[in-house]
Amino acid sequence: MAATRDVPGALGGSRILEVPEVAAEVAALRALLAGPGPKLLEIGFDHGRRLTSTAQASPGWTVIGLEVRARRVAELRAWAVERGLPNLHVFRLDARAVLAGALPAASLDVVEALFPTPWPEGKARRRLLVTPEFLGDAARALRPGGLLHLATDVAWYAELVDAALATAAGILPVAPPDALATLRPPCPQQSRREWKCERDGLAVYRALRVRA
Ligand SMILES: C[S@@+](CC[C@H](N)C(=O)[O-])C[C@H]1O[C@@H](n2cnc3c(N)ncnc32)[C@H](O)[C@@H]1O
Repeated sequence: MAATRDVPGALGGSRILEVPEVAAEVAALRALLAGPGPKLLEIGFDHGRRLTSTAQASPGWTVIGLEVRARRVAELRAWAVERGLPNLHVFRLDARAVLAGALPAASLDVVEALFPTPWPEGKARRRLLVTPEFLGDAARALRPGGLLHLATDVAWYAELVDAALATAAGILPVAPPDALATLRPPCPQQSRREWKCERDGLAVYRALRVRA
């Protein structure tokens, strides 16, 4: 399976999903998505505070994380085994490549990307997660009525996200905070970055959309 289009700067390249070990991971991910019950995908979970807390609080949900940092993936896999959490699954995969080709349509109830990396100007900028293409991929992967949750504390990134959302098809604005309380499973923990923003009094831009 390959990404349906070129994904500039993707970890391992745009054709990474065809590499056998990666293909096995993607197959495992797809098998989870074919299973019963509601499903949440968090992109870039890093320390995994929200992912672990959600999986603990909502055993009926399948809670999936994608992260490019190998160490974080290993830590969370160990944590899931230690705590006996069969509903928590994490993969070392570039979310942009995965969403561009590997996810069945309408297979997710929630997609979250909190404080995605604000790649600096220059060559790395092509790795920015939230682009018009990403929003199209996320809309496709969400079931009708499913929630897209984005947040950043970086002003220029918020402007880019706003501009991309303004032209995005298939996702509609929804009034916070109701959407988080009703469409997302409970999560007693803030993400690490969210917690830091609150501690340091940094403004957080948040966008909530539902799949039409
Ligand atoms: C700024 S950190 C935010 C972490 C966490 N969500 C929080 O709110 O504290 C962004 C995370 O996204 C991960 N990341 C960046 N690009 C990614 C991609 N294309 N796919 C998956 N994870 C990615 C980074 O490794 C990093 O852990």
